[in-house]
Amino acid sequence: MRALIAGTGAYLPERVLDNEALAAAYNLDTSDEWIRERTGIRQRHLAAPGETASSMGAAAAREALRRAGIAAAEVDAVIVATATPDSAFPSTAARIQAALGVPGGPAFDLSAACAGFVYALGMAESLMKGGHVRCALVIGTEIYSRIVDWTDRGTCVLFGDGAGAVVLRAHESAPGRDDGRGLLSWHLHADGRHTDILQVEGGAGSTGGPGVLRMAGREVFRHAVSKLASVVDQALTANGLDRSEVQWLVPHQANLRIIEAMGRKLGLPPERVVVTVDRHANTSAASIPLALHEAVSDGRIGTGDLVLMEAIGGGLTWGAALARF
Ligand code: UT7
Repeated sequence: MRALIAGTGAYLPERVLDNEALAAAYNLDTSDEWIRERTGIRQRHLAAPGETASSMGAAAAREALRRAGIAAAEVDAVIVATATPDSAFPSTAARIQAALGVPGGPAFDLSAACAGFVYALGMAESLMKGGHVRCALVIGTEIYSRIVDWTDRGTCVLFGDGAGAVVLRAHESAPGRDDGRGLLSWHLHADGRHTDILQVEGGAGSTGGPGVLRMAGREVFRHAVSKLASVVDQALTANGLDRSEVQWLVPHQANLRIIEAMGRKLGLPPERVVVTVDRHANTSAASIPLALHEAVSDGRIGTGDLVLMEAIGGGLTWGAALARF
């Protein structure tokens, strides 16, 4: 039995701001040229005042269910990766469970910042392998526009809002004929000594009240390149795969320079690396399922394709997952 990605879905808020419009709207001393050259970002979607992580996540999940041909009644777990939950509790997952009419099973949020989706895939697969669930919704949904410091040009230009979702279902090949489909492995890491280089200084239990996102960009960049390279190697080695066997890289979308470095490491031509950072900016835990959905729904990623996902975020947390579609 493997956990198969049976459907994908996405939600992006209607409001789109390109770099120039963003600079003008928030009176930022920046330029389209700086943002594009350093990050590859051209624009981002920003949530409307009434939107929340749960409303966006529910929309993405509905589409994933529809595309998988699976009814909400068949879902028996909802896992939501988010750093921007609607509230401390109930969880965003419980809210989405109710919004969709999922009848029961566990529903919880998972906090691993930008690595959250890969973490959530791993947790969902563990529940499945343990025999606890047969069909799980795994969702990444984020509203970073509510936690960035709109006066800090070094961070606020980097993020966007959105949600992506996948339906995971227990998949069994015909006896004696393993089709190889499903999640092959996942590899998760954290090193809490680096909390200070990427954090939101505040939250429901904080002594200092609500806070904003702070990042030492250059430091995070350095960790990203080395830790992602090493976790990619770990994923390949664990499966006895050569890098030439990977057909698609669906990376976390933080910076085009990091994405291209990982593509080069795998020896993949640019057209085999799924890029959305130019249009979505960094949507944290939502970035991989958003990118996955785009490449699945436009027909690039098809049945049998081997897909590598990788991400790093605050914690530091990082990880990779290999899946055959
Ligand atoms: O998703 C979680 C993981 N996150 C990441 O992986 C992000 C990793 N880091 C990065 O992507 C890059 O470090 C950034 C895009 C955040 C920054 O790029 P950088 O090439 O590392 O630039 P920097 O932070 O070293 O800043 C270079 C200069 C500075 O000016 P000085 O000190 O050289 O005079 C900044 O003040 O660029 C300046 N700067 C800006 N200028 C115009 C910083 N932000 C801006 C801006 N517009 N928006």
